[in-house]
Amino acid sequence: MAGGEIFQDTRNQLNRTIILYMGPIRGGTDHIYRNAFTRHFSGFDLAMAPFINCINANKITRKYVHGLLPESNTGMPVVPQILSKSAEGFSHLANYLADLGYGTINWNLGCPFPQVANKLRGSGLLPFPDIIREFLDAVIPALRGRLSIKTRLGREHSNEILALMPVFNDYPLEEIIIHPRTGRQMYEGTPDLSAFGDCLALSRHPVVYNGDLRTNEDFIRLSGQFPKVNRWMIGRWAMVDPFLPKVIKSGKDDIEKVDKIKKLRAFHDDLFEEYARTLYGPAHLTDRMKGLMVYFLTAFQDSHNALKKIKKTRTPEQYSAAVTQFFDTEARWGC
Ligand SMILES: Cc1cc2nc3c(=O)[nH]c(=O)nc-3n(C[C@H](O)[C@H](O)[C@H](O)COP(=O)(O)O)c2cc1C
Repeated sequence: MAGGEIFQDTRNQLNRTIILYMGPIRGGTDHIYRNAFTRHFSGFDLAMAPFINCINANKITRKYVHGLLPESNTGMPVVPQILSKSAEGFSHLANYLADLGYGTINWNLGCPFPQVANKLRGSGLLPFPDIIREFLDAVIPALRGRLSIKTRLGREHSNEILALMPVFNDYPLEEIIIHPRTGRQMYEGTPDLSAFGDCLALSRHPVVYNGDLRTNEDFIRLSGQFPKVNRWMIGRWAMVDPFLPKVIKSGKDDIEKVDKIKKLRAFHDDLFEEYARTLYGPAHLTDRMKGLMVYFLTAFQDSHNALKKIKKTRTPEQYSAAVTQFFDTEARWGC
């Protein structure tokens, strides 16, 4: 499955391979970001792409799946993700992607946003094991590739997953990625590690842990608690600290803070140039970069005022001036 760098973790005397996934962040980890990431950083073995929606089978074109075309993804291996409750729509789109060369397609069963979940998509499907079984009954035989699932513990309650694990066990899934929160929780509270442990015990499929892996210390604690898990997904916190995957893989954080700032700045500038080249119009460019800076600035000390200033900018020129001032005079690494 995963390509890229393989690392034997002997720190916990576990002697097992760590596989790190870049988590999907819609509006964040698109193909431009993923490609740029691999030019500046390392540590991830593969990326799951943010979801795409199903559309009418005859409307699926190369333009529609542009960000998933193999030639648009020159960095690390990618798993595409689809958000859908329609087995037919899912199968058409998944097979289109399989024909582009993707061996595994992921089904999004975790999206918590009410506008998605209220329509029985993403985490909205989690209280309905029968609908999920029907979907899998139809999709599994129709798929030309393999299926993986990314899920939360439930929509309303963390025990909804207990009724789902036996359903998942009945199908030949590649793996199950679990973010141990409910949809209702969104990102509040802490991941329910006890419920994650229950899922692990119940699953006959490989399980990937995802949620609140912010530091190497988090990784050491969680990998000690779940010694059978060797697949880990990091979403928001690798956008905040893109050095994190490599630090986890190597077990050491040996880049000087001033060098981290330089490297992050180079990554930022690369992204700015790429988005300037590919996005349509200056407003899209500033909006996209401001969205990224919300993550980047979280890794810096006392960056609140800088972020406020950057958010107020209206043009790429104003944006660049504010970012230059930040990096030149204010940037102090250390979240
Ligand atoms: C803005 C935003 C967009 C996201 N988009 C997706 C998505 O497209 N597909 C998905 O499965 N998860 C998506 N997620 C969830 C993340 O992949 C991940 O499961 C979640 O953030 C918890 O992991 P983390 O604590 O490592 O970020 C998104 C999260 C955020 C905050």
